[in-house]
Amino acid sequence: MRISWQEFYAGLGDCRACRLCERRTNIVPGEGDYSARLMLIGEGPGQEEDRQGRPFVGASGALLTRMLSAIDLSRDQVYICNVVKCRPPGNRTPTPDEAAACMGYLRQQFALVRPRVVVLLGKTAAVNVLHEEIFIGRDHGRWFDRKGVSFMPTYHPSALLRDPALKRAAWEDFQKVRAKLDEEEHADGRVQ
Ligand code: URA
Repeated sequence: MRISWQEFYAGLGDCRACRLCERRTNIVPGEGDYSARLMLIGEGPGQEEDRQGRPFVGASGALLTRMLSAIDLSRDQVYICNVVKCRPPGNRTPTPDEAAACMGYLRQQFALVRPRVVVLLGKTAAVNVLHEEIFIGRDHGRWFDRKGVSFMPTYHPSALLRDPALKRAAWEDFQKVRAKLDEEEHADGRVQ
């Protein structure tokens, strides 16, 4: 049975499913176009995201916004969320049990948005969504098909801020995303 967005937010409520609830300021559910063709999934909220209750609004968010605009997309044309909805203290990587506790929410978001293309920002998103051993250095830019939906792991924007030499590869990955979205659009056009 498909839930509504209202039910999604009600279900998230004042979530206490894992220890991350103890130190959060705000839950960061995700935001954007509820029927976006492109969904982007990060790791978890950082300090600024925790303060505002919105995903990718800090330094890595500014870079993500620029990368999207390089492929002619604004943030309100896509849906952006994270594996975990509460900030891991000190921005540590979420533990497997924290990610597992939050996975039901991500599944609901995926079922509600029904994207055609999903970009997995960094290893945490890639591993938790694809359930495969992923090395971003090796697997970035590769397409994984899951029931007709195209998933691509790429570098997390914060990795690009730490190592600007990786930006070119990430930029190329985003160009592939643009091409995939265009392909999807043409395929839809043929069916209609
Ligand atoms: N890093 C993430 O993975 N997600 C955010 O929302 C912000 C930074």
